[in-house]
Amino acid sequence: MANADALFHVDGLSKQFGGVQALANVTMSVAPGELRAVIGPNGAGKSTFFNTITGLFPPTSGNVFFQGERITGQPPHALARIGIGRTFQITSIFRELTVRENLQVALTGRERRSWSIWPKARTMNMPRVRELLALVGLTDTGTRIAGTLSHGDQKRLELAIALAGQPRLLLLDEPTAGMAAQERLASIHLVGSLARELGLTVIFTEHDMAVVFAVATVITVLHQGAVLAEGIPAAVRAMPAVQQVYLGEAVAPVE
Ligand SMILES: Nc1ncnc2c1ncn2[C@@H]1O[C@H](COP(=O)(O)OP(=O)(O)OP(=O)(O)O)[C@@H](O)[C@H]1O
Ligand SMILES: [Mg+2]
Repeated sequence: MANADALFHVDGLSKQFGGVQALANVTMSVAPGELRAVIGPNGAGKSTFFNTITGLFPPTSGNVFFQGERITGQPPHALARIGIGRTFQITSIFRELTVRENLQVALTGRERRSWSIWPKARTMNMPRVRELLALVGLTDTGTRIAGTLSHGDQKRLELAIALAGQPRLLLLDEPTAGMAAQERLASIHLVGSLARELGLTVIFTEHDMAVVFAVATVITVLHQGAVLAEGIPAAVRAMPAVQQVYLGEAVAPVE
C-alpha cells in the first residue's frame, strides 16, 4: 500500500452502476486521529464511497486497506470485528426495541438470530450499556422505545451502537442528516470530543458546511465520483475548483 502511516487507505477505488460511474479511481489515505470529511454535491458518490468501503457493494476495481491489511469487500460485521464501526445516512436502529435493548443487541452481535436468546438477556451488559449511553448524552433514555426518540437522539443512539464494537475507525454517513441547525453542530461536536476522548479516527460525509468546518481536520471533495480536491479546511475552502462545484452554496461559514 502507498502510505505506511495511514490507518485507512483506499487505492484506485471505482464503482460502476450500469452506465453510471459512481466512483472513479478514488485514492485516499487517512492518518490515525484524523477527522476526515468527505464532501461533494448531491450524487457526487459519497454514499457509494461509504457503501463500497464497508462491503455493502463490491467495488468494480480498487482496494481498501485498514492497518495495512487488505479489507476490500469484507462485510460490515467482519469490519466491526477488526475495529471499523459505521452509521448510515438513513438511521438504522431497531425502532421497536428499547434504547437499552438496541445496545444489548449491538453488544451481543448484530445478528438477528441473537434475538432467540432475548428473554434471558434483559440485564445483559448493563454497565457497558450505561457507559455507552453516557458517552453520547442519552443517560436516562434506556427504557424508551427507540422509535419514539427525537431524530437527533436516534442518531446519538446509532452512534452509541457503532461505539459498542469499540472501533478504532468510525465511518459516519451524514451523521447530522435531518437535524435542525443547532442540533447538527452539537452532534458533530459530540463526535469530535468522543474521537479525542476515545482516540478514534473518523471519516464522515456531510452536506452542512458549518458542520464540516467545525470539526474536520482534513477534507476530501468528491465530484462526479472522483477526488476533486483534498487538504486542510482552509486550503480546500480557498480552491477555485471547489468553489465552482459549490456555486450558489456556501463552502464556508461566515466568520
Ligand atoms: N444502488 C445504486 N444503483 C444505481 N445507481 C446508484 C446506486 N447508488 C448510487 N447510484 C448512483 O451513483 C451516483 C452517486 O450516488 P451517491 O448516492 O453515492 O451520491 P452522494 O454523494 O451520496 O449523494 P447525496 O448527497 O444525495 O447523498 C448517483 O448518480 C446515483 O444515482
Ligand atoms: Mg449520500
